[in-house]
Amino acid sequence: MIQVCKPTINQETKEELLKTLDSGWFGNGPKVKEFETEFAKYVGAKYAVAVSSCTAALDLALMVANVKDGELITTPMTFVSTAIVGEWNNMDVTFCDIDPDTLCLDPEKLVITPQTKAIIAVDSHGRLADIDAIRKKFDGLIIEDAAHACYTPGAGSKADITCWSFQAVKTMPIGDGGMITTNNEQYYNRLKNEGLTWLGVVKSTWERVGEKKYTWDYDIQNLGKKYYMIDILATIGLGQLKRLGEMTQRRQFIQAKYNEAFKDIKQIKVPVFSHTVQYYTMQCENRDDLGQFLSENGIATSVHFKPLSEMTYWKKAVKRPLPNTKVWEKLLSLPCHNALTDAEQDLVIYKIKEFYDKRDNPPLA
Ligand SMILES: Cc1ncc(COP(=O)(O)O)c(C=O)c1O
Repeated sequence: MIQVCKPTINQETKEELLKTLDSGWFGNGPKVKEFETEFAKYVGAKYAVAVSSCTAALDLALMVANVKDGELITTPMTFVSTAIVGEWNNMDVTFCDIDPDTLCLDPEKLVITPQTKAIIAVDSHGRLADIDAIRKKFDGLIIEDAAHACYTPGAGSKADITCWSFQAVKTMPIGDGGMITTNNEQYYNRLKNEGLTWLGVVKSTWERVGEKKYTWDYDIQNLGKKYYMIDILATIGLGQLKRLGEMTQRRQFIQAKYNEAFKDIKQIKVPVFSHTVQYYTMQCENRDDLGQFLSENGIATSVHFKPLSEMTYWKKAVKRPLPNTKVWEKLLSLPCHNALTDAEQDLVIYKIKEFYDKRDNPPLA
């Protein structure tokens, strides 16, 4: 089967990983610190804190800003993490409609009320959310969910807090993991000094061992979560960061080749450019039949996303019409990852052309 996404690491990273495993410490320690420093430099943020997932980062973002209760506005075109953290922090989640082409939250559709306490905007598929336009309408906490935008130039530069994902199918995969970046010193100090990533314990075991005299004693003054990253994953992260440019280039090449191949197919609308190409998600007629046909021919496809507004649990967050979100019925994500070979991509293109040539499909409405 030709996969939609496929994580890879290189030989150098494997060797670094062995060194970390043999170093005598591979929990939360020096590699995590190094990864935080390098990542902050890469995205141009003052502060970075590595965590166990983007979900954890989003939850912590609300916690450090002391936002609980009130309304959280977000997009339905996302994975459940973006909305669930609102519920975890006792907030009332409301969906805002999207731009049907970028698939990002449409700031024009925002309805801000006195209850609105935070907005989480997703850089959908790697295309930047319009934080400036959101800021014009809302002066409260804006969190950027950059799970797909690692690294789109400009991501992480405008929101109050940005949350990143290194989960297995993301553009910089390390297995599972996330990062918070911010330029806000107060938020950073809370993250570092209140033990929010380790159940309220302020100093990690590694930090206490590193001090002149090891002390087993510690105090707990806050309620925290168990969200820290470990050195094994940070070592992979450091390796992946070095090859991020090269991996992104390959994905962009694949994006351009699909766009060129499909430009004359009337039943397909190619996606708006994405720098990271987290997903190559096109709009197409007969989406489900095409997906089935490709699957029968050994080609996996997916849908990013079946919106949360279609999920039973999340119907309660639909408080206004979401007409543009209907575009999801036409969305199909094709194989796009840096391990995809030219021959594999040629086969995907050939089969899609065959599908539309053989059938009497109407053009895309
Ligand atoms: C837009 C978005 N936000 C957040 C997440 C959650 O990321 P993680 O798996 O690192 O918690 C995902 C993962 O699929 C995502 O697509």
